[in-house]
Amino acid sequence: MIQDLGAIRRGSPSRRAAVIIMFLCSVSGIARNAMGQTVQHEIHALKVTVLSTMLVGDTSGIGEWGFSALVEADGHRILVDTGARPDTVIRNAHDLHVDLSGVQEVVLTHSHWDHVDGLLALRRELMKNDPKALSIVHVSEGIFESRPAESGERNPMIAIRKEYVATGGRFVVHRFSAELIPGVWFTGPIPRVYPEHNWDGPGRVVTAAGVAEDNIPEDSSLVLNTAKGLVVVTGCGHAGIVNIVTQAAKLVNGKPIFGVVGGLHLFRATDETVDWTASKLQGFHLANLLAAHCTGIEATFRLRQDLGLTRKSAVVASVGSSLSLAAGIEAGPLAQ
Ligand SMILES: [Fe+2]
Repeated sequence: MIQDLGAIRRGSPSRRAAVIIMFLCSVSGIARNAMGQTVQHEIHALKVTVLSTMLVGDTSGIGEWGFSALVEADGHRILVDTGARPDTVIRNAHDLHVDLSGVQEVVLTHSHWDHVDGLLALRRELMKNDPKALSIVHVSEGIFESRPAESGERNPMIAIRKEYVATGGRFVVHRFSAELIPGVWFTGPIPRVYPEHNWDGPGRVVTAAGVAEDNIPEDSSLVLNTAKGLVVVTGCGHAGIVNIVTQAAKLVNGKPIFGVVGGLHLFRATDETVDWTASKLQGFHLANLLAAHCTGIEATFRLRQDLGLTRKSAVVASVGSSLSLAAGIEAGPLAQ
């Protein structure tokens, strides 16, 4: 890097621009091939394991209305969402023999209680052995905004922020998409290109521009650029799965979608809405759907049918079910 900075100072304007681009590429995980073309970093070993969802697929674990999944990508591990109850993810990880020690980073997809209420208990439990455990939480701008209701503040993240920071943890608030580690992208707030309405109302959110309908503006996903295509991990998919995969494809070379794991919030959707969703997803060549949490059982089966997927490639997620590049979807016995 020191050599690069020297070259920037000494070189011609074009040389300086080239060096700056090379430097930015080196810190963003973008590489260049022998022809000098930019090549984005690809993940070659990936496994996403569901640690919280409604269905329990066998004798291991407990189900709840919530979501959490562990992402393991080329040796890096990130926890996406933390479940609803304080002990669900801890108990399920124990039953499934999933070791969460050494996981430093968390992504919270949005502010809803069924995705964030496990954070403090998990942090406090794991930091007993490792102060760095779950010490960094990536979120999108808007996650701390007030959601007032007659019963009081509805956004649990306002109280959680204080307590989490008191443990020594740090929130990283993203306004835009960011590559967290090579090949692993956090979408940040997702542009609502299509008029999907995958949230329950009517809630209100207090923004800098005033009070507005709460469309969960902070809703974000994780996008993994793998050798087999993109893998998208959603929480509730409140931004709309079509908007999410549209943003994912923009981030990473417009690759086909190898898999979607997580909630799509289609459980109240009409058949027409599910059919529209499938028609749009067809353009992204979705190969695997591990549909958790708020996707809805009927919506999952309808998406399977519409997309021409099979009982192996479109599955209702259960605790312990997974999607990996090596094995595809591994469902629990009840959901296979
Ligand atoms: Fe949600």
